[in-house]
Amino acid sequence: MAGGLVGVSWEEFAGLDPFEKGRLLREESRRTMHVLLAQQFDRDFLDSLCDLATTIRRIAKTKSGMLFLKSLLPHRRAMLYFTQPSSRTFLSFVAACQITGMDVAEVRDTSVSSEFKGESKEDSIRTFSSYFDIIIMRSPEAGLAERVAWLLSNTERPVPIVNAGSGKDQHPTQALLDIYTLQRSFAHRGGIEGKRIAFVGDLLRGRTVRSLAMLLVNYPGVEEFFVAPDELQIGEDILRMLEEHGVKYYKSDDLEEVLPLVDAVYMTRVQDEWDRPGDGGVDVSRYRITGENVGRMRADAVIMHPFPRREEISTAVDSDPRAMYWRQMRNGMWIRCALMVRILGVEDEVREYAG
Ligand code: NCD
Repeated sequence: MAGGLVGVSWEEFAGLDPFEKGRLLREESRRTMHVLLAQQFDRDFLDSLCDLATTIRRIAKTKSGMLFLKSLLPHRRAMLYFTQPSSRTFLSFVAACQITGMDVAEVRDTSVSSEFKGESKEDSIRTFSSYFDIIIMRSPEAGLAERVAWLLSNTERPVPIVNAGSGKDQHPTQALLDIYTLQRSFAHRGGIEGKRIAFVGDLLRGRTVRSLAMLLVNYPGVEEFFVAPDELQIGEDILRMLEEHGVKYYKSDDLEEVLPLVDAVYMTRVQDEWDRPGDGGVDVSRYRITGENVGRMRADAVIMHPFPRREEISTAVDSDPRAMYWRQMRNGMWIRCALMVRILGVEDEVREYAG
């Protein structure tokens, strides 16, 4: 059974548009399920993954349930290769691995690895893949997770690659937890369909925004609002893909005007680690939610943030019932448990246990 990443050269794969890549990754997932881009997921997958996350979180409520979850993957080992700062995403994956019974190992600093001796990243990661059963990786390099996934799928011991953040490009597992959070938030309001969702802040370099904006094309009637100063507005590539999928979107530089219109506000920080020396820095003081302007939002709207936050959301908002960001983080752990279960093929056991 060829197809997927096996039937295609790296150059061909790299040249495809993200939805074409997504199609090949779905094909590949019959053999090895890599998680690389938001465009690889369809609605059925999203619904069943969210459902699995909820099942796992229910099972985890009791000691016997936790012991069952721990018995799922004790024969598997996970490697976390994180060469870019992370605490939340890193720990949330560690927790997901522990809950499902896996041992984990990590590389976070390449200055103490053989990459320092001139080994290529591809060789390093292929080496790790011979000791582990899944590799979860975060890298400042946009296409590295894709390249490694393609490489491993074309070896005799393919190991799934999970992209935990790739440069300014994609953060697909964050987008999955964001979808899970939206789905839970709107469960009693007819679901995500038809909702108006605003993205605020650094939309140009915020990979969580890019991934979530694409994942939302799976929900008919959703309208997306991109609220940022011109210098930090969302990339044209995303807008073009939204157009191709018939998604209505609006661009604005005025948060106050957009706040009363939307069902969810997704705040982000300025990603100034990407600034070049001499860049002036953009004034984002108008792109904040505070104790004052939160009152302009609909009473049933939600406020989200991938975190870490700076001044985009004042702590005065934390106790507002619309603040969803702490729950959003915990949702991340459950959706990552569901991903481990799905990728490593023990989903049926979970469904059976839940009855
Ligand atoms: C984000 C990231 O690393 O892309 N954080 C996260 O994973 N929750 C957002 C950020 O760093 O601002």
